Amino acid sequence: MAATPLTHPSSATLPATARPAGARRSLASRRVADLGHNYFDHLDALIARARRRHGDVIDLSKGNPDLTTPDHIVRAAQDAVGDPGNQAYPPFLAKRSVREAIAEAYLRDHGVQLDPDTQVTAFHGAHEALVALPWALLDAGETIIIPDPCYPPYLDAARLAGVEVARVALEESLGYQPDPAGLAEALGGAAMLLLNYPNNPTGAVATPRTWESVLEAAAPHGTLVVNDFAYSSLDFAHDAAYSLLSSLSSLSGDTGEGRALEISTLSKTYSMAGWRFGYAAGDAEAIAALRAYQSVAFSTIFGAVQDAAEAALRGDQDCVGRIAATYAHRRESVVAGLRRQGWHVAATPGTFFVWVRARGTGDGEALAERLLEEAHVAVAPGEGFGEQGRGWFRLSLVHDQDTLAEALRRLEEWSRAQGRSQV
Ligand SMILES: Cc1ncc(COP(=O)(O)O)c(C=O)c1O
Repeated sequence: MAATPLTHPSSATLPATARPAGARRSLASRRVADLGHNYFDHLDALIARARRRHGDVIDLSKGNPDLTTPDHIVRAAQDAVGDPGNQAYPPFLAKRSVREAIAEAYLRDHGVQLDPDTQVTAFHGAHEALVALPWALLDAGETIIIPDPCYPPYLDAARLAGVEVARVALEESLGYQPDPAGLAEALGGAAMLLLNYPNNPTGAVATPRTWESVLEAAAPHGTLVVNDFAYSSLDFAHDAAYSLLSSLSSLSGDTGEGRALEISTLSKTYSMAGWRFGYAAGDAEAIAALRAYQSVAFSTIFGAVQDAAEAALRGDQDCVGRIAATYAHRRESVVAGLRRQGWHVAATPGTFFVWVRARGTGDGEALAERLLEEAHVAVAPGEGFGEQGRGWFRLSLVHDQDTLAEALRRLEEWSRAQGRSQV
């Protein structure tokens, strides 16, 4: 009997010419071949080459937190590693204790009531949750709206899952909030809108009006609104009342019929980027689908990491303020230093990124290459974040004050050598 080929529903939609049979058939799937280069890998290669040539390069191109994880969290993890209960396979669903801790943190920090049984699920970091979103919640061919500029993995996740992408521009003149007209146009027929406030790369934070208007616009279309809340603790614009703001807290107001989900992480809030713990919270139907996908695609999360996450979320929160204050202080001095040198810096108050216009050149990529080769400072060219990033670049603040001061000194020297008009 002839074998019946096993056909995956989404691969069945690929044209027959995509992967010719025979000896020279590509081993990469079409969806992987279409990914193109990983933006940050590419940057790393350029920086490594510059280091081989020049030795010392200050890398302000990526957002890898330099601050260490608070001691009480490390100690809780050390104890948890020795717990025999954490040495076998953990259950697929995250422990109830950590789901409860997430719900408690949401209530404490954002005034949002969540059911830990149905409205919370955990991942190995927000990145994994973001990749899961289109796979778990969209069918191939459905549309996700993604901001431009944006954190590059959003696009890769959409490409991998075979969903259509529409972009909504974030412009400086609108404070990097979504343009209402563009959004209204894109929403017709879109299954999901993914936003990110506080925003990478621009540093913009959402206003209460942002969430109200987005949820209001999305509700009639049944579009799920997702906020990537990775920088939830790094919002330096708002007073105590505002810092409660999340897309989910806006849901409970007049726009309560909307559907919303939020993706969060411990990476930045508690300086736990290497620990790989993130979570999704909100709409119960979306959470159920994410859980089903997560258990198949990524299996389980090490129990000791879950216990450490619980210790972070339930423990002393002073560390969150200390970490945020460190970035706020760095941000103030770097922004002031850049402005003194004549750079145009976006007037945005969030995250540990600074968004700067490559004045004069109109080409962030060319400028970034020159800064790397001539000033030995690596920055992330805006083009890597989308068309709207053209002519901008992003600096990250994940270095101590002395290193940031040295980077500023190098930029100043470089600018002087060029003549101010060149930058
Ligand atoms: C906007 C944004 N979302 C998500 C992530 C990923 O976070 P995690 O470390 O939890 O995977 C990052 C990391 O830099 C980010 O900038």
